[in-house]
Amino acid sequence: EKNHNVIFKSASDASKYVAEEIAQLIRFKQSRYESCVLGLATGSSPIKVYEELVRMHQEDGLSFHNVITFNLDEYYPMTKENRQSYHYFMQEHLFNHVDIRPENINIPDGTILLSQVNQYCIDYDNKIKQAGGIDLQLLGIGRTGHVGFNEPGSHINSGTRIITLDHITRIDASSAFNGTANVPKRAITMGVSTILRSKRILLLAWGQNKAEIIKRTIQGEITSEVPATFLQNHNNTTFVLDQFAASEL
Ligand code: GLP
Repeated sequence: EKNHNVIFKSASDASKYVAEEIAQLIRFKQSRYESCVLGLATGSSPIKVYEELVRMHQEDGLSFHNVITFNLDEYYPMTKENRQSYHYFMQEHLFNHVDIRPENINIPDGTILLSQVNQYCIDYDNKIKQAGGIDLQLLGIGRTGHVGFNEPGSHINSGTRIITLDHITRIDASSAFNGTANVPKRAITMGVSTILRSKRILLLAWGQNKAEIIKRTIQGEITSEVPATFLQNHNNTTFVLDQFAASEL
């Protein structure tokens, strides 16, 4: 079996397991004087992973000096200073608290002119390739089966691009924006093919409200209607679940 699931009692136990794998990879790369390229996700799912990595930095001396990061997505349009931006999220939950070099942080830019977005996205994918590819990609999953913001209909060959958000996704984001109408209608996201090129993928899902989409993702037919199902074809993906997200498997 290529891919497998690991199931934990709680999201917090699962998050420690994920942080430990990331820390081991960072240290292994450091021992070889190599950089470690991490693909990072936002949303509530990875928050405890970042908390644990910050703790390891503060208490165990884990250094991020060799770490290069590429985030999955950003709303469009969106400024970096906006508290609802994924830039702000990453600063708050991770980057402000560790020794990563600012020039090693990459997050899609939600302020890029519409006329320049396509080229910007091509450049983003090229930058990932020039960094040596993503060693480890963290993913959450949306109720629509999106990874990053690859909504239903996303092609397996899609690269980084600007997309229109699904209505369900905008409803799920509405509390952060004080109403669905205030949620941006678009986003820039790494593509499905960008994600699938990662050498290692960890998809995180916690809670009963993820149980149905997790079942479809892991056991359902591979289809662009549920873009996360493309992970079934990736040769080094682990679905990290709590007992509630795994309850329908
Ligand atoms: C957003 C993000 C996704 C994330 C999803 C699930 O749509 N763009 O990357 O996986 O939300 O969020 P949560 O982890 O809060 O359930």
